[in-house]
Amino acid sequence: MTLGRLAIIKTYFVTGGAGFIGSNFIGYMLEKYGEEIKIINYDILTYAGNLENLCGVETCSNYSFIKGDICDKDLLTTIFKENEIDYVIHFAAESHVDRSIIDPEVFVKTNVLGTASLLNVAKASWLNEDKETFKAGKKFVHVSTDEVYGSLGETGFFTEETPLDAHSPYSASKAASDLLVKAYFDTYKMPINITRCSNNYGAFQFPEKLIPLIINNALTGKKLPVYGKGLNVRDWLYVKDHAKAIDMVNQKGKLGEVYNIGGHNEKTNIDIVKIIINKLAAMLPQNDARREKITEDLITFVTDRKGHDLRYAIDPSKIKKEIGWEPETMFDEGIELTIKWYLDNAKWLKNVTTGDYSNYYDQLYKNRG
Ligand code: NAD
Ligand code: TYD
Repeated sequence: MTLGRLAIIKTYFVTGGAGFIGSNFIGYMLEKYGEEIKIINYDILTYAGNLENLCGVETCSNYSFIKGDICDKDLLTTIFKENEIDYVIHFAAESHVDRSIIDPEVFVKTNVLGTASLLNVAKASWLNEDKETFKAGKKFVHVSTDEVYGSLGETGFFTEETPLDAHSPYSASKAASDLLVKAYFDTYKMPINITRCSNNYGAFQFPEKLIPLIINNALTGKKLPVYGKGLNVRDWLYVKDHAKAIDMVNQKGKLGEVYNIGGHNEKTNIDIVKIIINKLAAMLPQNDARREKITEDLITFVTDRKGHDLRYAIDPSKIKKEIGWEPETMFDEGIELTIKWYLDNAKWLKNVTTGDYSNYYDQLYKNRG
């Protein structure tokens, strides 16, 4: 009946929804739940935020976009007063390690102070009149990273019990925000979960991160920069599997808990680059002149990243056991879907790599040799 149906509509306040993972999450949620949910996407649109990522959902009547800063408490307070927000899914962040090495302060401002503002506004809005207990059915999901655990050697995995040992300004700022979120549970009993995932890949990822950067460089005839010897290991997670995991943690996660999200998909960087070269060349049309040029000769080993973490690898047994989530996309399939997406969306790639991108690229890579 209409009344019953209206009663179950939940409102999601998604921060950073114009970025890579946030936009995939919004697409996933609207496809899965349709009009059973309402989504407010709150994003300041930095270089990494792009409303083109949301062209598939813009016309949905239950989706809206608000341009704003997570540090702007006044605007956040107004939005929380005007809307009965049930869930905050917090993606907004400065997210790129190399940029954090060049300019750490903006990472502290957005990732630490921004998270504090958002926590405060949500807490004020969700407290009952007694100012002690929280209204039922609310939750703040903080999307974090396995990089807060630091670096592994050749063996072992990160579990939720691994001590925080962040190394880069990016991961240090994420670790600080994780501790703040946990402090709101420990101190106020605010309903929260923290998720820590490994490296994501898929559609809409900005080509500053390894996989889309290599695809873009190969397609445009540029060298493929591999830091150090290319032997650092990352544990790759397909972004749609990640979106599903976040939804499940929001629905089923035990309050106050951390959940690691990973896919048992470890690869060295040099292997990733070679896989992309082979698949990309094979997937281009027969008559595309670039086919012949995309070879391993394009690989160039460049000066290593400062403080480069050797290996990340997640033990995802807790999320599997408690919540029933498992990754569904094998790397071989996920990387083909990803390459196909970039080939089909050449205009998107061109739009995001014009203007400031080339300045960034030149600044970062010019001294790397
Ligand atoms: P992204 O850089 O693609 O997107 C970040 C988004 O946040 C952008 O749309 C940007 O405009 C927005 N934003 C930045 N500062 C803001 C501010 N002050 N106020 C409002 N919006 C702001 O990042 P992503 O790759 O989608 O990552 C999303 C989250 O997942 C981040 O918290 C990141 O730390 C985490 N994470 C990412 C990965 C990965 O592989 N990409 C892995 C682990 C964790
Ligand atoms: P990145 O995508 O920046 O993610 P993160 O640093 O958060 O893991 O980098 C993934 C790996 O690829 C990391 O070990 C650094 C390496 N890398 C390169 O070798 N060359 C590049 O041009 C970039 C951007 C990354």
